[in-house]
Amino acid sequence: MNRISLWEGTAADVHFPAQNEDLSVDVAIVGGGITGITAAQLLVAAGKSVAVIEAHRVGRGTTGHSTGNLHVAVDDQLQKLRKKWGDDVLSVVCQSRQAMITFIERTISQYGIDCGFVRRPHFIFPAEASQISTMEEEHAAALAGGLAATLSTVDLPMALGPALRIDGQAQFQPLSYVALLAKAIASDRCRIFENTKVVDINDRDQVVTTTGGGIRAKKIILATHTPKGFHLVQTELGPYREYGMAAKLASGALPDGIFWTLETPMHHSIRSYDGHLIVIGEKHKVGQHDNAEDYYGKLETYARRHFNVTTVDYRWSGQHYKPADELPFIGQSGTHPDLYMATGFSTSGLLYGPLAAHIITDDILGRENEWASVYKANRFTPVKSAKEFVKENVNVAEQYVKDFLLRRADVEKVADVAAGEGCLVEIDGKKVAVHRSTSGEWTALSPICTHMGCIVHWNGYEKSWDCPCHGSRFATDGEVIEGPAMLPLERLRVGE
Ligand code: FES
Repeated sequence: MNRISLWEGTAADVHFPAQNEDLSVDVAIVGGGITGITAAQLLVAAGKSVAVIEAHRVGRGTTGHSTGNLHVAVDDQLQKLRKKWGDDVLSVVCQSRQAMITFIERTISQYGIDCGFVRRPHFIFPAEASQISTMEEEHAAALAGGLAATLSTVDLPMALGPALRIDGQAQFQPLSYVALLAKAIASDRCRIFENTKVVDINDRDQVVTTTGGGIRAKKIILATHTPKGFHLVQTELGPYREYGMAAKLASGALPDGIFWTLETPMHHSIRSYDGHLIVIGEKHKVGQHDNAEDYYGKLETYARRHFNVTTVDYRWSGQHYKPADELPFIGQSGTHPDLYMATGFSTSGLLYGPLAAHIITDDILGRENEWASVYKANRFTPVKSAKEFVKENVNVAEQYVKDFLLRRADVEKVADVAAGEGCLVEIDGKKVAVHRSTSGEWTALSPICTHMGCIVHWNGYEKSWDCPCHGSRFATDGEVIEGPAMLPLERLRVGE
């Protein structure tokens, strides 16, 4: 069984160099996922010079851990979006998302990208009796959004009633798409750097400082899933992790399309790719539930209950940021007009990423964008976001209190940390995050998150230190994996 995503296991192997010189460009793009690479594609096509700075490998962050599904329906249900925002905004959301499916299809054909793109219907169906009536409302919302949606049967064992069917949706290999698109657009005017970490963003002087030098830019786009550094918008986002598995079946047909179950408190997403059944689900707040193995176990139990699974070939997890008012934040950041952000995509980054690239590119080029006002990053919607805003920020405050005042060390002394694990240990009255490698080496870090000072938690499955407040994640050597933190956890020296 591979502890990587199916996409990482089957994608084209595309590499880019690390940055090793200072340079000046029109636009610096921080983040080489689908948002950043699409922005580069559009800006270069419009004659701008760009530099894309990716901390790890292009497409292998959130994009390479997604579902590979492209659908207009939103994970939190169209009817909820309709109740909160009304039919006009609902229509903009549906139209803009559908337009991005067409855009991706066109891009694939333009560059000849081999990424298994197929048009498929999307089915959303009740898997609990209490959800059957919900389908009527979801159907009505889909029609109000301008979608040609119907109610139809679905041939899956857990379906308890008619499904909402939306045709013209699509599926692809998301990592192959992004990696091959990046390869196609890379040039002297489109510099793409991997393994290059951003250590500072000076939005006044418009300089991005990285581990490979400085990049002076007229505009900067933070295409990092959640913006790096401190931004008010982070109080409007809830960071979640969700799990995925790809399995082979002994018998029975693989589902042909995008299938979502409606269950409380969360749904499962089911699709197939290249002979594998893919099941996604079991989400939870980042850093607040320690045992990822339990979630994988639940997901596998669920898959085995409904399908004749023989082997599980891949397991992975991905992160998303749920916005308090249900809409992503895209456009000029609140701090500087030349600094752009794109965040709060929930589980829809494969469409909201390209959409963000369009909106931001249009703004940089001085072009009108018909969808921009609905998604603008510096909006203030206290009524629409109140409930979730309070919930998320009470949750963050609880983490501070629980971890700083009440949390005890996981083990008494450094020697008690098992090989391959990480624990909080109290040394001279201070908590220290200690990791012991399988070969017996210790790494001691400050457990204080470098974003805004919450205490990190050990993630035993992914071998990372995860922050429960805004979703920053750190490797065992303290380096940032993802999230708003820019600086690594501080290295400490301790003895046994
Ligand atoms: Fe914000 Fe850790 S991610 S405090």
